[in-house]
Amino acid sequence: MEIAIGSDHAGYELKRQIIEHLIQKGVEVKDFGSYSTERCDYPVYGYKVAKAVASGECEKGILICGTGVGISLAANKVKGIRAVVCSEPYSAQLSRRHNNTNVLALGARVVGSELARMIVDCWLEAEYEGGRHQKRIDMIAEIENDEFDI
Ligand code: RB5
Repeated sequence: MEIAIGSDHAGYELKRQIIEHLIQKGVEVKDFGSYSTERCDYPVYGYKVAKAVASGECEKGILICGTGVGISLAANKVKGIRAVVCSEPYSAQLSRRHNNTNVLALGARVVGSELARMIVDCWLEAEYEGGRHQKRIDMIAEIENDEFDI
């Protein structure tokens, strides 16, 4: 499994720690930047990671900005991306099991690094359950394609 990871300047330090954590777990990581704490624009990194996931280059993505909000909004504009911003493990796990999220966003100014690691672990370990949830995922895709007929 290869994980795409990206952050803006606000998320850079937490990104570094999450990369280290993932490498220790034996997870392959592809870092799409940013590569310093120099001020930059979160949509750039949200887009790069989302594209890597949507194209199949990477299986899942992790994004970090100050709140996780801006970078997840940017990622969710890429077709096929279901990005969730989480600040606790329960939603992270359920977002995989029920919503088949393929990008996790974290707020470096919201969660500490211990909690962030726990959220990442729960999210990566949880499996999508399919079944009754698939119909709703399909509906989201229909909205994305402007084909939602209700
Ligand atoms: C940068 O200051 C901050 O706005 C950004 O990291 C993020 O929190 C936006 O949603």
